[in-house]
Amino acid sequence: MFHAHTYDHYQVPASPLIQVEHLTRIITTRMQKTMLLNDITFTVPTQSLFAINGPSGSGKSTLLNMLTGIDRPTEGRVIFADQELKAQGENVLARWRGRNVGIIFQFFQLIPTLTAFENVLLALELGGGGGLRRKDWRERALTCLDMVALSSFAHRLPAELSGGQQQRVAIARALANDPPALIADEPTGNLDSATANSVFTTLANLTHQGKTVIYVTHDPQLASLASARIDLLDGQIVNEHGANAIITSRREVHS
Ligand SMILES: Nc1ncnc2c1ncn2[C@@H]1O[C@H](COP(=O)(O)OP(=O)(O)OP(=O)(O)O)[C@@H](O)[C@H]1O
Ligand SMILES: [Mg+2]
Repeated sequence: MFHAHTYDHYQVPASPLIQVEHLTRIITTRMQKTMLLNDITFTVPTQSLFAINGPSGSGKSTLLNMLTGIDRPTEGRVIFADQELKAQGENVLARWRGRNVGIIFQFFQLIPTLTAFENVLLALELGGGGGLRRKDWRERALTCLDMVALSSFAHRLPAELSGGQQQRVAIARALANDPPALIADEPTGNLDSATANSVFTTLANLTHQGKTVIYVTHDPQLASLASARIDLLDGQIVNEHGANAIITSRREVHS
């Protein structure tokens, strides 16, 4: 790893964090074959705020599940930080996921019986602590809550927090093991617009701390805030910006 200051008089081309190459996902049932994703090629630049935009049913969540190794392509491949996500055992993939991606869900998915602090601590337990020794985990959990401006709510249960605060806990939890990427499926979809804006700003600002933030949205306005994006329709990329994407069919997205 070189030091940026040594090279800052050059324009060093950032290598992408993720490369998706000719990815296709087909589900075959007894009755029929359904093409969920059709020949998807794009890259996610390192430290970008990256939007996957498209209407309901366009394949956004299916694609996210490929990026996190939760689902596997029928054809094509995903290369994450120069490493191909191959079919490996669930344990290997779960460990990989714990180190490399923090996942944020639309409905927060916090453990209701654990406090905010304990929810973040649990992520450290499950993810191995992001290279930290166990004795430093409690402090790390508090640091993560501080990063989302929630330190004073650390000992509250999810039910004692607002929706926006719960989503901030989920962001803190995603940060726990210090992964390079945060991946969020409609992270503000369940929040009122003022709260949504503030949670989105928190997420977007993480790119200034070196994180690559990938978010799914069907909201064109939210997608327009991204530094790079792809627009999906019927499992194809129909538009893109800054993502080196191959557009297989150019159509207007009405999401
Ligand atoms: N297991 C499955 N079997 C068959 N079809 C599926 C399966 N999972 C998803 N689909 C279909 O694939 C398409 C894409 O689904 P996906 O969940 O990726 O859409 P999405 O863009 O995330 O939509 P939303 O905005 O509603 O969350 C949809 O038409 C969906 O019905
Ligand atoms: Mg979805």
